[in-house]
Amino acid sequence: MTFEKTILCIGAGYVGGPTMAMIAAQCPHCRVTVVDINPERIGAWNSDNLPIYEPGLDELVRATRGMNLFFSTEIERGIRENDIIFVSVNTPTKSFGLGAGMAADLQHWEKTARQILEFSESSKIVIEKSTLPVKTALAMERILNCRENGIHFDVLSNPEFLAEGTAVRDLEHPDRILIGSRETDNGLKARQTLVDIYASWVPKERILTSNIWSSELSKLVSNAFLAQRISSINAISALCEKAEADVAEVSRAVGMDSRIGPKFLNASIGFGGSCFRKDILNLVYLCRNYGLDAVADYWESVVKINDYQQERFIRNMLGAMFNTLAGKRICLWGFAFKANTGDTRESPAIFIARRLLEEQAEIVVSDPKALKNARTDLAGIEGQIRYVEDPLLAAEGCHAIALLTEWDLYRTLDFPKIFDSMAKPAFIFDGRNILDHHRCFDIGFNVYPVGKPPLTHFLEER
Ligand code: NAD
Ligand code: UGA
Repeated sequence: MTFEKTILCIGAGYVGGPTMAMIAAQCPHCRVTVVDINPERIGAWNSDNLPIYEPGLDELVRATRGMNLFFSTEIERGIRENDIIFVSVNTPTKSFGLGAGMAADLQHWEKTARQILEFSESSKIVIEKSTLPVKTALAMERILNCRENGIHFDVLSNPEFLAEGTAVRDLEHPDRILIGSRETDNGLKARQTLVDIYASWVPKERILTSNIWSSELSKLVSNAFLAQRISSINAISALCEKAEADVAEVSRAVGMDSRIGPKFLNASIGFGGSCFRKDILNLVYLCRNYGLDAVADYWESVVKINDYQQERFIRNMLGAMFNTLAGKRICLWGFAFKANTGDTRESPAIFIARRLLEEQAEIVVSDPKALKNARTDLAGIEGQIRYVEDPLLAAEGCHAIALLTEWDLYRTLDFPKIFDSMAKPAFIFDGRNILDHHRCFDIGFNVYPVGKPPLTHFLEER
C-alpha cells in the first residue's frame, strides 16, 4: 500500500505513543512509525500489554497497529524513510552542571537532532513535540542546516497539551492545536503540511498558527498558568484551615465568576506529574537568564507553595496524631500523581511516603495501577513498606488512611468495615477532598480534609 505522507515520531513515551496512535487512526492516508532507543518499551507497544495505562488507548492502538501504525527500534531507517519527523523525547530538569535543578536537560533532544542530520537522505519537516525552552528551534535549525548538501530542514513547534488519564479524549477533541513556524515561504509551506494532517479531524478554528517562538513559549506558559491556579487555591486552603472556612465553598464561589472559571481549583496535596514542576522551573531559569528576576521570583513561588502544601499535609498528620507517627501504620490510598494513570512521576505521594518513613511510621501503599512504579520510586528507602492492591486489606490494622490520589473507587468503599478493621482512634486524611466526610465521621473516623475544618471525636477540638 502506498501512503500520501510518511510520519516518524522519535520517542515512544506518554506523548509519542498516544499522539501517533491518534494521527494513525484519523489519517489512514498516512503511515506512522514510532521509534525509541528503549527496546522494552517498543516491545510493550507491540504487545497486548502497552507500556502505559491510559483509558481508551488499547482500543486506539489495536485499531491501527500493523496497518498504518508501527513501533520499532530502527531509528536510522525511520529517519531515512520518513518525510515528517516528530521529536517527542523526554526533556527533564537538568541534574548536573550549570542550571542543575532548574534548566531543561536537552541532551536527548540534541542527540536526536544530530541523528536526523546524520541519517537524512532527503529534505524533511522536523517538528518539536517535546516541551522545550523558547528559542530551542533556533538551535535545532543550526544543527540541522549546518551541512551544505542540498538537503533542507524546516523546523516547526507543535507542543502537546494532552493530560494523562484523559489523553485519548484530549487528542480526539483538543481545545486547540498550536503550530509555530518561521514566517518564510518554506516555513509557511511546512506549517500548512502539518495543519492539513490535523485538519483530518480537528475543526479548523481550533488549529492555531503562530510564530515559532510564541508557540514554544505558549506551552511553558500554559502549564505555568494551570499550576498557578492549583497553588493559588492550595495557598488559600491553608488560610481556610485557620479561619474555619471551607475551601470547596470558596473555590465554588470564586469559580462561578465567568472571568475566573471553575476548573483547576481543587485544593489538594499539591500538583505532581512529570511536567508542571519541570516546566515552571524551566520558565524561571529562562527569566533569570534574561535578567528578569522579579518575573522569575513570581513563577518560582508557584513551586514553593506546592512544596509547602505537601509538607503542610505531613505536619497536619503529625499534629492530629499526637505529634508522633513512630511505629504507627499508615495506609496510602493512591500513589499515582492523579487518577486514571499508573504514572507516578513527581507524585506528591513519593514525598509523603518518604516523610512518613522519616517519622518512622510503617506504610502500606495501595493503588489500582501504580504499584509497580511505586516500588521503583521507593526502592532503597529505609523503613517498613508494604504494597497491597486491595484498599480494604491495605487499611486493615492501620492507625490512619492518607488518601493521596482521587481514584473513583475510593468513594464507594465499605467504610464501616474499614473502620472496624483499623486501630483506634482511626484517622482519615483526605488529601483530595473526595470522600463523604460527614459520613466517615458518623462511622467513627476522625476526618481531616484539605482546607476544611476537621471532623473529630476529640471533645476539646469540637
Ligand atoms: P517519556 O519519558 O514517557 O518518553 C520519552 C521517550 O523518548 C522515552 O521512551 C525515551 O526512551 C525516548 N528517547 C529518549 N532519547 C531518545 C533518542 N535519542 N532516540 C529515541 N528515543 C529516545 O516522556 P513523555 O512524558 O512522553 O514526554 C515527552 C515530552 O513531551 C517532554 O518534553 C514532556 O515535557 C512533553 N509533554 C509530556 C506530557 C505528558 O503528559 N507526559 C504532555 C505534554 C507534553
Ligand atoms: C498537565 C496539563 O494539564 C496538560 O495540558 C499538559 O499537556 C501536561 O501537564 C504536560 O505538559 O505534561 P497532567 O500533568 O497530565 O497534564 O495532569 P493534570 O490534570 O494537569 O494534573 C496535574 C496535577 O495537578 C495532578 O497531580 C493533579 O492531581 C493536580 N491537580 C489538578 C490539582 O491538585 N488540583 C486541580 O484542580 C487540578
